[in-house]
Amino acid sequence: PVPVILDCDPGHDDAFNILLAAAHPAIELLAITTVAGNQTLEKTTLNARRVCSVAGIKGVPVAAGRDRPLHGPRRIAENIHGDSGLDGPGFGEGEPDVPQDPRDALTLIRDTLLAHPSPVTLVPTGPLTNIAVLLLAHPELAGRIERIVLMGGSTERGNTTPAAEFNILCDPEAADIVFRSGLPVTMFGLNATHQVRATAEVVARIAALGTPLSALCVDLLTYFASTYREVYGFEAPPLHDPLTVAHLINPALVSLVRAAVTVELDGTHTRGATLVDLHGVTGRPADTEVGMEVDADGFWDLIVEAVRVLGDP
Ligand code: BDR
Ligand code: CA
Repeated sequence: PVPVILDCDPGHDDAFNILLAAAHPAIELLAITTVAGNQTLEKTTLNARRVCSVAGIKGVPVAAGRDRPLHGPRRIAENIHGDSGLDGPGFGEGEPDVPQDPRDALTLIRDTLLAHPSPVTLVPTGPLTNIAVLLLAHPELAGRIERIVLMGGSTERGNTTPAAEFNILCDPEAADIVFRSGLPVTMFGLNATHQVRATAEVVARIAALGTPLSALCVDLLTYFASTYREVYGFEAPPLHDPLTVAHLINPALVSLVRAAVTVELDGTHTRGATLVDLHGVTGRPADTEVGMEVDADGFWDLIVEAVRVLGDP
């Protein structure tokens, strides 16, 4: 199996990525770290623990990372993910039974990289703050990182400004550090993730599993659908983040091209945009893999199967 550390900001789609990584035998989920993004760090960390608790994901340490970007204002996506960051299901008021690891995210990632016998794949699905701090603070760990497979950016336009996608806009300097790190980076942006929509048919397949976990997943997707309809007018919401782990499970699910990717750090109206040089016009090295065409049916088969496996232990 592919050894993986998830770095996330759950977040409805992040939650499904946790389920997919924990459920599928092709993935060895070593650790989960959290970052401020869809909601405050406190909330995204609680949400990661809640998801692990309800899905029976035990023995995977969950640690909290950075609570703000390297530069610029803090930004959340309450309009999409709600006040809790994971609105929809009733998780109850009590503490989830999965604890928070006492280490900070940086220490947990470092310990995990050093302890694992082979290089580990980092899967960031939130702002890239934790990963950038790791690369800056511990350049000696680069050899322990197999590759970085992230959700962020787009070959096209943005979703949070006309130019910028949420994860990149939250911390453009961190994204710039990651894309220029020299490590192998694979990017799944909106151009790819908008091809995987949680349609009524998908939700019905999950509902038909008939377990408490499947009911909770339906509540998540129903809430996510309502905000995506309201904010973007989408018929069905795109489940962005799990495209990362789905790619690791089955590389044939998404076609990739190689291109130079530059993060706009200035720009009067375009800060946080990803400039993907699909036609090689800049002469910059085409050193990033970029997700393009998605087999959406294959993707949803993986998601439904993950919810089935975890709901029926
Ligand atoms: C990204 O932003 C977040 O709201 C989602 O969880 C996803 O990671 C999509 O732009
Ligand atoms: Ca996310």
